[in-house]
Amino acid sequence: MDIDEPIYLVGGDLTTFIGKGHPDFDTDGDNPSLENHLTEAIHGSLEETGVEPDAIERGYIGNFAAECFANQGHMGALAARAHEAFRGKPFQRVEGACASGGLAVINAVDSLQLGHDVVLAAGAEVQTTVSAREGAAYLARAAHWETERDLDDFTFPAMFARRAKHYKEKYGVTDEDIGHVTAKAYANANKNPYAHMREVEVSYEDAITESDQNFCFLGNEELKPHLKTLECSQVTDGAASVVLATESGLDKLAVDPSDCVQVTSYGWSTSPLGDVDDYTELNNTKQAVQEAYNDATVKPSDVDVAEVHDCFAVTELLMYEALGFANPGEGAQLAESGETQLDGETPVNTGGGLIGFGHPVGATGVKQVLEIYRQMKGLCGDYQIPETPDVGLTANMGGDDRTTVSFVLENIA
Ligand code: CAA
Repeated sequence: MDIDEPIYLVGGDLTTFIGKGHPDFDTDGDNPSLENHLTEAIHGSLEETGVEPDAIERGYIGNFAAECFANQGHMGALAARAHEAFRGKPFQRVEGACASGGLAVINAVDSLQLGHDVVLAAGAEVQTTVSAREGAAYLARAAHWETERDLDDFTFPAMFARRAKHYKEKYGVTDEDIGHVTAKAYANANKNPYAHMREVEVSYEDAITESDQNFCFLGNEELKPHLKTLECSQVTDGAASVVLATESGLDKLAVDPSDCVQVTSYGWSTSPLGDVDDYTELNNTKQAVQEAYNDATVKPSDVDVAEVHDCFAVTELLMYEALGFANPGEGAQLAESGETQLDGETPVNTGGGLIGFGHPVGATGVKQVLEIYRQMKGLCGDYQIPETPDVGLTANMGGDDRTTVSFVLENIA
């Protein structure tokens, strides 16, 4: 989508992402609720940006499965509880599986294009209310239930184990290759105070070795050898929220464009559920990212920092290829080269990605654009990349590459 009128990301905030393995997580279940996370992120985004709640004209809330995990629907109205000034304003939920957050940001951008000036996009999910196995059944609703649910109790892990199997067979990629993604994710998360896995240390050796910490857990015997626990994104609770504005919105807010990041373009692609034509490529993502590149007149080599949907370690390699950072089958070489590490040429998932930072499903797409903003404005503390990025790219994927949202963001110095 070519964005005609300049749209600015004014800033935002997120809650600490927590779940099993986080020092503050209560294994007896006494953890912040969905509403706690959402409210905290919205309040934080208003405080961080100095935007008065009154100035918010609309709100879009990304969430996938609150009915299942938290017995809560009607997320727009839930978000409207966050501030008295939101009463009567149009707020709504946006759903596209794990791309729900990205879609919330798209809706905010579209409404700014249509004439609004200041809009909020947030995303939230809690998932730790049930066991990982029960949660996997809820997440499986992002697949084609009728034909894909029976792949495994852990349907999504199995779907990406299937991709790993095909990818390894086609290109000779090994678990040792994939381990570079896992090790990077944990190393970055260890530098990130917001990350779910901030205190769990995983060396490259740990990542590639089967152990009590890193076991093959699938029931599907054919797919079981192709996925270990450390290669998985986390079952995480969390929320993120951003404020977006037009030029006249910035005038109203008295915010200087140089304090913002421009949302230059977005790509959005959806493919039929259960109809993957090639397990070794993320073709839907490729299409969304290509649209974002074309509309921004940006090419892969222009990208200085990226946030990609590493729902499983192998997915990050497939993402490198879909984004044009590596040729087909060469994602592993890129990972091994160190180019996507914090001090590399194109750092990817600097805060730890879905594996290290965590994956509160509906929040992830919002967190991705916020992370690019935070890198561009030098707000990432210990995981700040050495060179201030000019161009950033996101790729937020729902289901087995069925809905993808991609943004190009540019820094305004
Ligand atoms: N050896 C073998 N198996 C073992 C074991 C061992 N040493 N220890 C435990 N297990 C088995 C057990 O059967 C256990 O399940 P039950 O307790 O129900 O029997 C199972 O492995 C998992 O163990 P835990 O529940 O103790 O593991 P955990 O709570 O640490 O979770 C995880 C680990 C299962 C990998 C979990 O983190 C997970 O499910 N991650 C993936 C989350 C996910 O799929 N997110 C969606 C990504 S897809 C996407 O992003 C797109 C979209 O639109 C959905």
